[in-house]
Amino acid sequence: MNEGELQTTESRIELWLFVVSMATIAVIVTAALRENFFNEWRPLRTRYSDILAEKATDELGKAAARQFEVRLVQNYLPALNAVDRCATCHAGVQDPRMADQEQPFKTHPGRYLEIHDPEKFGCTVCHDGQGRATETEEAHGRAPFWDYPMLETRYVVTSCTKCHEGQSLFGSDGFIAKASGPETGESAAALLDQGRGLVTTLGCIACHTMNGKGGIIGPELSFVGNKTKHEFDFSHLGAEEPREVGYWLKQHFMNPQRVSPGSKMPPVKQGEDAADALTAYMLSLQRKESSACSCGAHEGQS
Ligand code: HEC
Ligand code: HEC
Ligand code: HEC
Ligand code: HEC
Repeated sequence: MNEGELQTTESRIELWLFVVSMATIAVIVTAALRENFFNEWRPLRTRYSDILAEKATDELGKAAARQFEVRLVQNYLPALNAVDRCATCHAGVQDPRMADQEQPFKTHPGRYLEIHDPEKFGCTVCHDGQGRATETEEAHGRAPFWDYPMLETRYVVTSCTKCHEGQSLFGSDGFIAKASGPETGESAAALLDQGRGLVTTLGCIACHTMNGKGGIIGPELSFVGNKTKHEFDFSHLGAEEPREVGYWLKQHFMNPQRVSPGSKMPPVKQGEDAADALTAYMLSLQRKESSACSCGAHEGQS
Protein backbone atom coordinates (compact mmCIF):
# COMPACT_ATOMS: atom_id res chain seq x y z
CA MET A 1 0.00 0.00 0.00
CA ASN A 2 1.48 3.43 -0.91
CA GLU A 3 1.12 6.60 1.12
CA GLY A 4 -1.83 7.94 -0.92
CA GLU A 5 -3.81 4.72 -0.46
CA LEU A 6 -3.02 4.72 3.24
CA GLN A 7 -4.41 8.25 3.57
CA THR A 8 -7.70 7.44 1.80
CA THR A 9 -8.13 4.35 4.01
CA GLU A 10 -7.53 6.48 7.10
CA SER A 11 -10.02 9.13 6.04
CA ARG A 12 -12.54 6.40 5.20
CA ILE A 13 -12.16 5.04 8.73
CA GLU A 14 -12.55 8.53 10.14
CA LEU A 15 -15.70 9.13 8.11
CA TRP A 16 -17.05 5.75 9.19
CA LEU A 17 -16.34 6.50 12.86
CA PHE A 18 -18.02 9.89 12.47
CA VAL A 19 -21.17 8.32 10.98
CA VAL A 20 -21.34 5.64 13.68
CA SER A 21 -20.92 8.13 16.52
CA MET A 22 -23.54 10.50 15.05
CA ALA A 23 -25.96 7.58 14.74
CA THR A 24 -25.28 6.57 18.35
CA ILE A 25 -25.87 10.14 19.55
CA ALA A 26 -29.12 10.28 17.55
CA VAL A 27 -30.36 7.08 19.20
CA ILE A 28 -29.50 8.34 22.68
CA VAL A 29 -31.09 11.76 22.07
CA THR A 30 -34.28 10.18 20.66
CA ALA A 31 -34.55 7.84 23.65
CA ALA A 32 -34.02 10.70 26.10
CA LEU A 33 -36.61 12.89 24.35
CA ARG A 34 -39.08 10.03 24.28
CA GLU A 35 -38.52 9.20 27.95
CA ASN A 36 -38.78 12.81 29.09
CA PHE A 37 -40.94 14.79 26.68
CA PHE A 38 -42.84 12.84 24.02
CA ASN A 39 -44.55 10.38 26.34
CA GLU A 40 -48.03 9.73 27.67
CA TRP A 41 -47.28 9.91 31.37
CA ARG A 42 -45.99 13.49 31.58
CA PRO A 43 -49.19 15.22 30.38
CA LEU A 44 -51.23 12.86 32.59
CA ARG A 45 -49.20 13.70 35.68
CA THR A 46 -49.39 17.40 34.83
CA ARG A 47 -53.17 17.08 34.66
CA TYR A 48 -53.22 15.20 37.95
CA SER A 49 -51.15 17.94 39.52
CA ASP A 50 -53.88 20.45 38.49
CA ILE A 51 -56.60 18.20 39.95
CA LEU A 52 -54.66 18.03 43.23
CA ALA A 53 -54.44 21.82 43.33
CA GLU A 54 -58.20 22.15 42.65
CA LYS A 55 -59.02 19.68 45.42
CA ALA A 56 -56.69 21.29 47.97
CA THR A 57 -59.13 22.86 50.40
CA ASP A 58 -57.10 22.51 53.61
CA GLU A 59 -53.42 22.82 54.59
CA LEU A 60 -52.82 19.09 54.21
CA GLY A 61 -54.23 19.11 50.70
CA LYS A 62 -52.21 22.19 49.77
CA ALA A 63 -49.00 20.58 51.04
CA ALA A 64 -49.75 17.39 49.06
CA ALA A 65 -50.35 19.45 45.91
CA ARG A 66 -47.10 21.40 46.42
CA GLN A 67 -45.08 18.23 46.98
CA PHE A 68 -46.45 16.39 43.95
CA GLU A 69 -43.80 15.95 41.27
CA VAL A 70 -44.19 15.45 37.54
CA ARG A 71 -41.81 12.49 37.35
CA LEU A 72 -41.81 8.71 36.92
CA VAL A 73 -42.87 6.84 40.05
CA GLN A 74 -41.36 3.42 40.56
CA ASN A 75 -41.97 0.81 43.21
CA TYR A 76 -39.16 -1.72 43.43
CA LEU A 77 -40.48 -4.99 44.80
CA PRO A 78 -37.55 -7.29 45.63
CA ALA A 79 -39.69 -10.08 47.11
CA LEU A 80 -41.70 -10.22 43.89
CA ASN A 81 -38.66 -9.62 41.69
CA ALA A 82 -40.56 -6.84 39.91
CA VAL A 83 -40.62 -3.13 39.19
CA ASP A 84 -43.97 -1.37 38.97
CA ARG A 85 -44.50 2.07 37.47
CA CYS A 86 -48.29 1.89 37.20
CA ALA A 87 -48.69 4.55 39.90
CA THR A 88 -46.99 7.09 37.63
CA CYS A 89 -50.28 7.48 35.76
CA HIS A 90 -52.63 5.92 38.34
CA ALA A 91 -51.62 8.62 40.78
CA GLY A 92 -54.90 8.83 42.69
CA VAL A 93 -55.48 5.16 43.58
CA GLN A 94 -54.84 5.76 47.28
CA ASP A 95 -56.57 9.14 47.53
CA PRO A 96 -60.23 8.84 48.57
CA ARG A 97 -60.89 12.35 47.17
CA MET A 98 -60.43 10.99 43.63
CA ALA A 99 -63.56 8.81 43.66
CA ASP A 100 -65.23 11.21 41.19
CA GLN A 101 -62.32 11.19 38.70
CA GLU A 102 -61.94 9.36 35.39
CA GLN A 103 -59.26 6.68 34.89
CA PRO A 104 -56.36 6.68 35.34
CA PHE A 105 -56.81 8.99 38.35
CA LYS A 106 -59.75 7.36 40.11
CA THR A 107 -59.55 6.01 43.68
CA HIS A 108 -58.98 2.22 43.76
CA PRO A 109 -62.17 0.27 44.57
CA GLY A 110 -62.44 -1.67 47.84
CA ARG A 111 -59.83 -2.12 50.59
CA TYR A 112 -57.32 -3.99 48.39
CA LEU A 113 -54.63 -1.33 48.67
CA GLU A 114 -55.16 -0.70 52.38
CA ILE A 115 -54.41 -4.39 52.93
CA HIS A 116 -51.71 -4.71 50.25
CA ASP A 117 -49.50 -1.59 50.33
CA PRO A 118 -48.60 -0.74 46.69
CA GLU A 119 -45.05 0.11 47.77
CA LYS A 120 -44.57 -3.54 48.73
CA PHE A 121 -46.97 -5.34 46.41
CA GLY A 122 -47.16 -3.08 43.35
CA CYS A 123 -50.06 -3.61 40.99
CA THR A 124 -49.14 -6.39 38.57
CA VAL A 125 -49.29 -9.12 41.27
CA CYS A 126 -53.06 -8.82 41.01
CA HIS A 127 -53.66 -7.19 37.60
CA ASP A 128 -50.82 -8.60 35.44
CA GLY A 129 -49.55 -6.26 32.68
CA GLN A 130 -46.03 -4.89 32.20
CA GLY A 131 -45.01 -3.03 35.34
CA ARG A 132 -41.89 -1.42 33.91
CA ALA A 133 -43.58 0.14 30.87
CA THR A 134 -44.43 3.83 30.74
CA GLU A 135 -46.90 3.94 27.82
CA THR A 136 -50.52 2.93 28.42
CA GLU A 137 -50.85 0.12 25.87
CA GLU A 138 -47.53 -1.45 26.80
CA ALA A 139 -48.12 -1.07 30.55
CA HIS A 140 -51.47 -2.78 30.12
CA GLY A 141 -49.51 -5.63 28.58
CA ARG A 142 -50.96 -5.41 25.08
CA ALA A 143 -47.56 -5.79 23.38
CA PRO A 144 -47.54 -9.06 21.37
CA PHE A 145 -44.48 -10.46 23.17
CA TRP A 146 -45.80 -9.90 26.71
CA ASP A 147 -46.79 -13.16 28.47
CA TYR A 148 -49.45 -11.85 30.84
CA PRO A 149 -51.60 -9.01 29.44
CA MET A 150 -53.58 -7.07 32.03
CA LEU A 151 -56.59 -9.06 33.20
CA GLU A 152 -60.10 -7.88 32.45
CA THR A 153 -61.35 -6.26 35.65
CA ARG A 154 -63.80 -9.01 36.57
CA TYR A 155 -61.00 -11.59 36.35
CA VAL A 156 -58.56 -9.76 38.67
CA VAL A 157 -59.69 -11.79 41.68
CA THR A 158 -58.32 -14.89 39.94
CA SER A 159 -54.83 -13.70 41.05
CA CYS A 160 -55.54 -13.96 44.77
CA THR A 161 -54.73 -17.70 44.65
CA LYS A 162 -51.06 -16.86 43.97
CA CYS A 163 -50.80 -16.10 47.68
CA HIS A 164 -54.02 -17.21 49.41
CA GLU A 165 -55.66 -20.65 49.62
CA GLY A 166 -58.52 -20.91 47.11
CA GLN A 167 -60.84 -22.01 49.91
CA SER A 168 -60.23 -18.86 51.99
CA LEU A 169 -61.53 -16.59 49.24
CA PHE A 170 -65.18 -17.57 49.15
CA GLY A 171 -68.22 -16.75 51.23
CA SER A 172 -69.53 -13.63 52.90
CA ASP A 173 -66.57 -13.53 55.34
CA GLY A 174 -64.05 -14.79 52.76
CA PHE A 175 -60.95 -12.83 51.69
CA ILE A 176 -62.58 -11.39 48.56
CA ALA A 177 -65.55 -10.07 50.52
CA LYS A 178 -63.16 -8.64 53.16
CA ALA A 179 -60.94 -6.90 50.62
CA SER A 180 -63.57 -5.53 48.25
CA GLY A 181 -66.34 -3.14 48.90
CA PRO A 182 -69.82 -4.57 49.45
CA GLU A 183 -70.75 -3.55 45.88
CA THR A 184 -68.52 -6.00 44.03
CA GLY A 185 -67.25 -8.43 46.67
CA GLU A 186 -70.09 -10.87 46.47
CA SER A 187 -70.30 -11.00 42.69
CA ALA A 188 -66.52 -11.35 42.26
CA ALA A 189 -66.34 -14.26 44.70
CA ALA A 190 -69.57 -15.70 43.28
CA LEU A 191 -68.09 -15.93 39.77
CA LEU A 192 -65.19 -18.05 41.00
CA ASP A 193 -67.42 -20.11 43.24
CA GLN A 194 -69.87 -20.80 40.41
CA GLY A 195 -66.98 -21.95 38.21
CA ARG A 196 -65.71 -24.24 40.94
CA GLY A 197 -69.18 -25.80 41.28
CA LEU A 198 -69.57 -26.29 37.52
CA VAL A 199 -66.27 -28.18 37.28
CA THR A 200 -67.74 -30.75 39.68
CA THR A 201 -71.25 -30.99 38.22
CA LEU A 202 -70.05 -31.10 34.60
CA GLY A 203 -67.59 -33.90 35.36
CA CYS A 204 -64.53 -32.31 33.76
CA ILE A 205 -62.23 -34.81 35.46
CA ALA A 206 -63.62 -37.54 33.22
CA CYS A 207 -61.09 -36.19 30.72
CA HIS A 208 -58.80 -33.90 32.74
CA THR A 209 -56.50 -34.51 35.72
CA MET A 210 -56.86 -32.00 38.55
CA ASN A 211 -54.77 -32.34 41.71
CA GLY A 212 -53.81 -35.93 41.05
CA LYS A 213 -57.27 -37.23 40.04
CA GLY A 214 -58.95 -37.67 36.68
CA GLY A 215 -58.60 -38.70 33.05
CA ILE A 216 -55.92 -38.07 30.48
CA ILE A 217 -57.95 -37.40 27.32
CA GLY A 218 -57.38 -33.67 27.79
CA PRO A 219 -54.38 -31.79 29.31
CA GLU A 220 -53.90 -31.53 33.08
CA LEU A 221 -55.68 -28.51 34.58
CA SER A 222 -54.19 -28.29 38.10
CA PHE A 223 -52.16 -25.14 37.25
CA VAL A 224 -53.70 -24.08 33.95
CA GLY A 225 -53.93 -20.50 35.33
CA ASN A 226 -50.14 -20.17 35.24
CA LYS A 227 -49.92 -20.76 31.50
CA THR A 228 -48.90 -17.74 29.39
CA LYS A 229 -50.81 -16.61 26.32
CA HIS A 230 -47.99 -18.07 24.20
CA GLU A 231 -48.91 -21.56 25.39
CA PHE A 232 -52.35 -21.34 23.74
CA ASP A 233 -53.00 -21.68 20.02
CA PHE A 234 -54.77 -18.51 18.82
CA SER A 235 -54.32 -19.33 15.14
CA HIS A 236 -57.94 -20.44 14.64
CA LEU A 237 -59.34 -17.20 16.09
CA GLY A 238 -59.82 -14.04 14.01
CA ALA A 239 -56.94 -11.57 13.72
CA GLU A 240 -58.98 -8.89 15.53
CA GLU A 241 -59.82 -11.12 18.53
CA PRO A 242 -57.83 -10.38 21.74
CA ARG A 243 -54.72 -12.45 22.42
CA GLU A 244 -55.61 -13.04 26.07
CA VAL A 245 -55.85 -16.34 27.92
CA GLY A 246 -59.20 -15.41 29.49
CA TYR A 247 -60.62 -14.72 26.05
CA TRP A 248 -59.25 -17.98 24.63
CA LEU A 249 -60.67 -20.05 27.51
CA LYS A 250 -64.12 -18.51 27.27
CA GLN A 251 -64.35 -18.98 23.50
CA HIS A 252 -63.05 -22.53 23.95
CA PHE A 253 -65.73 -23.35 26.55
CA MET A 254 -68.47 -22.03 24.28
CA ASN A 255 -67.16 -23.77 21.16
CA PRO A 256 -64.09 -26.01 21.61
CA GLN A 257 -64.11 -27.06 17.96
CA ARG A 258 -63.86 -23.47 16.70
CA VAL A 259 -60.78 -22.80 18.84
CA SER A 260 -59.20 -26.28 18.71
CA PRO A 261 -60.47 -27.95 15.51
CA GLY A 262 -61.06 -31.69 16.01
CA SER A 263 -61.20 -31.41 19.83
CA LYS A 264 -63.08 -34.10 21.74
CA MET A 265 -64.17 -31.61 24.39
CA PRO A 266 -67.95 -30.93 24.46
CA PRO A 267 -69.17 -27.29 24.50
CA VAL A 268 -70.64 -25.86 27.72
CA LYS A 269 -74.41 -25.87 27.17
CA GLN A 270 -75.29 -23.72 30.23
CA GLY A 271 -74.67 -20.46 28.35
CA GLU A 272 -72.18 -17.60 28.32
CA ASP A 273 -72.32 -16.88 32.07
CA ALA A 274 -71.31 -20.46 32.83
CA ALA A 275 -68.44 -20.20 30.32
CA ASP A 276 -67.34 -16.98 32.02
CA ALA A 277 -67.43 -18.56 35.50
CA LEU A 278 -65.46 -21.60 34.29
CA THR A 279 -62.92 -19.24 32.71
CA ALA A 280 -62.46 -17.33 35.97
CA TYR A 281 -62.02 -20.57 37.91
CA MET A 282 -59.45 -21.87 35.37
CA LEU A 283 -57.46 -18.60 35.66
CA SER A 284 -57.43 -19.02 39.44
CA LEU A 285 -55.77 -22.46 39.25
CA GLN A 286 -52.26 -21.19 39.97
CA ARG A 287 -49.22 -22.40 41.86
CA LYS A 288 -48.73 -20.66 45.17
CA GLU A 289 -45.71 -18.32 44.98
CA SER A 290 -44.10 -18.84 48.34
CA SER A 291 -41.67 -15.91 48.01
CA ALA A 292 -44.47 -13.57 46.94
CA CYS A 293 -46.63 -14.63 49.84
CA SER A 294 -44.23 -13.41 52.45
CA CYS A 295 -43.59 -10.08 50.71
CA GLY A 296 -43.60 -7.45 53.34
CA ALA A 297 -46.25 -9.30 55.29
CA HIS A 298 -44.47 -9.04 58.58
CA GLU A 299 -42.12 -6.15 57.85
CA GLY A 300 -42.46 -3.08 59.94
CA GLN A 301 -44.09 -5.08 62.71
CA SER A 302 -40.92 -5.97 64.56
C1 HEC B 1 -48.89 5.89 30.71
C2 HEC B 1 -49.94 5.90 31.70
C3 HEC B 1 -50.43 4.59 32.30
C4 HEC B 1 -49.68 3.61 32.88
C5 HEC B 1 -48.17 3.56 33.06
C6 HEC B 1 -50.63 2.61 33.34
N1 HEC B 1 -51.91 2.96 33.03
FE1 HEC B 1 -53.62 1.95 33.50
N2 HEC B 1 -54.73 3.35 32.54
C7 HEC B 1 -54.23 4.47 31.91
C8 HEC B 1 -55.31 5.19 31.25
C9 HEC B 1 -55.17 6.47 30.45
C10 HEC B 1 -56.49 4.45 31.52
C11 HEC B 1 -57.92 4.76 31.07
C12 HEC B 1 -58.08 4.54 29.58
C13 HEC B 1 -57.67 3.18 29.14
O1 HEC B 1 -58.17 2.18 29.68
O2 HEC B 1 -56.83 3.08 28.23
C14 HEC B 1 -56.10 3.30 32.33
C15 HEC B 1 -56.96 2.32 32.79
C16 HEC B 1 -56.61 1.27 33.62
C17 HEC B 1 -57.52 0.31 34.21
C18 HEC B 1 -59.03 0.31 34.05
C19 HEC B 1 -59.52 -0.84 33.22
C20 HEC B 1 -59.21 -0.77 31.77
O3 HEC B 1 -58.98 -1.83 31.15
O4 HEC B 1 -59.20 0.33 31.18
C21 HEC B 1 -56.78 -0.55 34.96
C22 HEC B 1 -57.28 -1.74 35.76
C23 HEC B 1 -55.39 -0.15 34.83
N3 HEC B 1 -55.32 0.96 34.00
C24 HEC B 1 -54.33 -0.78 35.46
C25 HEC B 1 -52.99 -0.47 35.23
C26 HEC B 1 -51.88 -1.25 35.74
C27 HEC B 1 -52.00 -2.50 36.57
C28 HEC B 1 -50.74 -0.62 35.32
C29 HEC B 1 -49.30 -1.04 35.51
C30 HEC B 1 -48.94 -2.37 34.99
C31 HEC B 1 -51.14 0.55 34.55
N4 HEC B 1 -52.51 0.59 34.51
C32 HEC B 1 -50.25 1.46 34.00
C33 HEC B 1 -52.92 4.90 31.90
C34 HEC B 1 -51.84 4.18 32.39
C1 HEC C 1 -54.42 -7.27 46.06
C2 HEC C 1 -54.78 -7.18 44.68
C3 HEC C 1 -54.72 -5.84 43.98
C4 HEC C 1 -53.65 -4.96 43.94
C5 HEC C 1 -52.30 -5.09 44.62
C6 HEC C 1 -54.08 -3.88 43.08
N1 HEC C 1 -55.34 -4.09 42.63
FE1 HEC C 1 -56.40 -2.89 41.38
N2 HEC C 1 -58.04 -4.07 41.59
C7 HEC C 1 -58.04 -5.29 42.23
C8 HEC C 1 -59.35 -5.90 42.08
C9 HEC C 1 -59.77 -7.25 42.63
C10 HEC C 1 -60.13 -4.99 41.31
C11 HEC C 1 -61.57 -5.15 40.87
C12 HEC C 1 -62.34 -4.97 42.14
C13 HEC C 1 -63.68 -4.44 42.10
O1 HEC C 1 -64.18 -4.01 41.06
O2 HEC C 1 -64.21 -4.44 43.22
C14 HEC C 1 -59.26 -3.85 41.03
C15 HEC C 1 -59.68 -2.73 40.33
C16 HEC C 1 -58.80 -1.74 39.85
C17 HEC C 1 -59.15 -0.65 38.98
C18 HEC C 1 -60.55 -0.34 38.45
C19 HEC C 1 -60.79 -1.12 37.19
C20 HEC C 1 -62.10 -0.83 36.53
O3 HEC C 1 -62.34 -1.43 35.45
O4 HEC C 1 -62.90 -0.07 37.06
C21 HEC C 1 -58.00 0.04 38.69
C22 HEC C 1 -57.85 1.26 37.79
C23 HEC C 1 -56.94 -0.59 39.42
N3 HEC C 1 -57.46 -1.67 40.13
C24 HEC C 1 -55.61 -0.17 39.40
C25 HEC C 1 -54.64 -0.65 40.26
C26 HEC C 1 -53.33 -0.05 40.41
C27 HEC C 1 -52.81 1.12 39.60
C28 HEC C 1 -52.69 -0.76 41.37
C29 HEC C 1 -51.31 -0.50 41.97
C30 HEC C 1 -51.12 0.78 42.59
C31 HEC C 1 -53.59 -1.82 41.81
N4 HEC C 1 -54.76 -1.72 41.13
C32 HEC C 1 -53.26 -2.80 42.76
C33 HEC C 1 -57.01 -5.87 42.93
C34 HEC C 1 -55.78 -5.28 43.15
C1 HEC D 1 -48.47 -11.32 46.22
C2 HEC D 1 -49.25 -12.01 47.21
C3 HEC D 1 -50.67 -11.60 47.44
C4 HEC D 1 -51.68 -11.50 46.52
C5 HEC D 1 -51.61 -11.70 45.01
C6 HEC D 1 -52.88 -11.20 47.27
N1 HEC D 1 -52.59 -11.12 48.61
FE1 HEC D 1 -53.91 -10.75 50.12
N2 HEC D 1 -52.39 -10.75 51.46
C7 HEC D 1 -51.08 -11.03 51.17
C8 HEC D 1 -50.27 -10.91 52.37
C9 HEC D 1 -48.78 -11.13 52.47
C10 HEC D 1 -51.18 -10.54 53.39
C11 HEC D 1 -50.88 -10.29 54.84
C12 HEC D 1 -50.98 -11.60 55.54
C13 HEC D 1 -50.75 -11.47 56.98
O1 HEC D 1 -49.64 -11.19 57.37
O2 HEC D 1 -51.75 -11.64 57.70
C14 HEC D 1 -52.51 -10.47 52.78
C15 HEC D 1 -53.67 -10.17 53.48
C16 HEC D 1 -54.94 -10.21 52.92
C17 HEC D 1 -56.17 -10.01 53.68
C18 HEC D 1 -56.28 -9.76 55.16
C19 HEC D 1 -56.34 -11.10 55.83
C20 HEC D 1 -56.85 -11.06 57.24
O3 HEC D 1 -56.47 -11.96 57.98
O4 HEC D 1 -57.64 -10.17 57.54
C21 HEC D 1 -57.21 -10.12 52.79
C22 HEC D 1 -58.69 -9.99 53.10
C23 HEC D 1 -56.61 -10.36 51.49
N3 HEC D 1 -55.24 -10.40 51.61
C24 HEC D 1 -57.33 -10.51 50.33
C25 HEC D 1 -56.76 -10.68 49.06
C26 HEC D 1 -57.52 -10.74 47.84
C27 HEC D 1 -59.03 -10.69 47.74
C28 HEC D 1 -56.63 -10.87 46.83
C29 HEC D 1 -56.89 -10.92 45.34
C30 HEC D 1 -57.60 -9.79 44.77
C31 HEC D 1 -55.29 -10.90 47.42
N4 HEC D 1 -55.42 -10.78 48.78
C32 HEC D 1 -54.12 -11.04 46.70
C33 HEC D 1 -50.55 -11.38 49.95
C34 HEC D 1 -51.25 -11.37 48.74
C1 HEC E 1 -64.67 -35.63 26.58
C2 HEC E 1 -63.47 -35.15 27.20
C3 HEC E 1 -63.47 -33.74 27.78
C4 HEC E 1 -64.32 -33.20 28.71
C5 HEC E 1 -65.55 -33.83 29.36
C6 HEC E 1 -63.80 -31.90 29.01
N1 HEC E 1 -62.67 -31.65 28.28
FE1 HEC E 1 -61.49 -30.00 28.37
N2 HEC E 1 -60.32 -30.72 26.87
C7 HEC E 1 -60.46 -31.96 26.30
C8 HEC E 1 -59.44 -32.09 25.27
C9 HEC E 1 -59.24 -33.33 24.38
C10 HEC E 1 -58.69 -30.91 25.26
C11 HEC E 1 -57.49 -30.58 24.34
C12 HEC E 1 -57.98 -30.07 22.97
C13 HEC E 1 -58.62 -28.71 23.07
O1 HEC E 1 -57.91 -27.71 23.21
O2 HEC E 1 -59.85 -28.65 22.99
C14 HEC E 1 -59.28 -30.06 26.28
C15 HEC E 1 -58.81 -28.79 26.60
C16 HEC E 1 -59.22 -28.08 27.70
C17 HEC E 1 -58.60 -26.87 28.18
C18 HEC E 1 -57.38 -26.19 27.58
C19 HEC E 1 -56.22 -26.60 28.46
C20 HEC E 1 -54.87 -26.29 27.90
O3 HEC E 1 -53.92 -26.35 28.71
O4 HEC E 1 -54.73 -26.05 26.69
C21 HEC E 1 -59.28 -26.48 29.29
C22 HEC E 1 -58.99 -25.27 30.18
C23 HEC E 1 -60.33 -27.44 29.51
N3 HEC E 1 -60.27 -28.39 28.53
C24 HEC E 1 -61.21 -27.38 30.56
C25 HEC E 1 -62.29 -28.25 30.72
C26 HEC E 1 -63.29 -28.11 31.75
C27 HEC E 1 -63.29 -27.06 32.86
C28 HEC E 1 -64.20 -29.10 31.54
C29 HEC E 1 -65.50 -29.31 32.28
C30 HEC E 1 -66.46 -28.22 32.15
C31 HEC E 1 -63.74 -29.89 30.41
N4 HEC E 1 -62.58 -29.33 29.95
C32 HEC E 1 -64.35 -31.03 29.94
C33 HEC E 1 -61.38 -32.90 26.62
C34 HEC E 1 -62.43 -32.75 27.51
